[in-house]
Amino acid sequence: MATQIIACFVVSVGLFLLSPVRVAPTPASMCTPLKTLNDSLSHRRRYMKHNFPINYTIRVHRKEVFKPSNINSLRLQVKGLDELVLQRLWFQVNQGVLKKIIRVMPERHPSRPYTTELERRFRDVEGVFVQSHPAELFQQELPETIQETWDHLTEESDRVPESSWRLASPKSLLDNFCHTMHCLFSECFASTEAQQDCDQWQKTLKP
Ligand SMILES: *[C@@H]1O[C@H](CO)[C@@H](O)[C@H](O)[C@H]1NC(C)=O
Ligand SMILES: *[C@@H]1O[C@H](CO)[C@@H](O)[C@H](O)[C@H]1NC(C)=O
Repeated sequence: MATQIIACFVVSVGLFLLSPVRVAPTPASMCTPLKTLNDSLSHRRRYMKHNFPINYTIRVHRKEVFKPSNINSLRLQVKGLDELVLQRLWFQVNQGVLKKIIRVMPERHPSRPYTTELERRFRDVEGVFVQSHPAELFQQELPETIQETWDHLTEESDRVPESSWRLASPKSLLDNFCHTMHCLFSECFASTEAQQDCDQWQKTLKP
């Protein structure tokens, strides 16, 4: 009995030493605000498609067209990429996306209340995210590829070269927003949602 306990102890210490010190990617406290955000996003067709002219697009940075496939290729490019880094990137991308969508809507646009509510809920998630990780984590140096993307995202608009702009519909931007959320915070969503939305990543996991 005692040896079993000791063996068990040794094994767990061993595992602990083997794996780099990592924080759980998604603390449980994030699931409530994420689900609230998910609820808002479920109305995106109505507010982001029907209230806009047919084929309406807005100009975004190409890095703001951030889909599950982009997450997948970053994971392949950067060895041992921390999920937390991808989550930080997700916040950065979608903060810009929401800002750009809100900017094109006049004060009395019928989708404005929806979008500002969505932004508020997004901020709530971000608040919990920041609170639930130690501050040093946010000062950690980013892998080079990620830092490059980050620099593009935070570039002044007038310094962005013409070739880096893309046209995207507000609905497609929120589709990406939602699908990447399911991929990056999969612990908070049903596995079917994550599986559907992160199809490519799931495939690479199972060779
Ligand atoms: C997220 O929203 C979808 C609708 O878009 C819904 O079917 C799903 O159950 C929601 N997931 C959670 C975990 O709330
Ligand atoms: C919208 O885009 C589709 C596909 O590109 C095109 O066939 C259609 O004519 C466009 N509609 C309008 C109103 O511009």
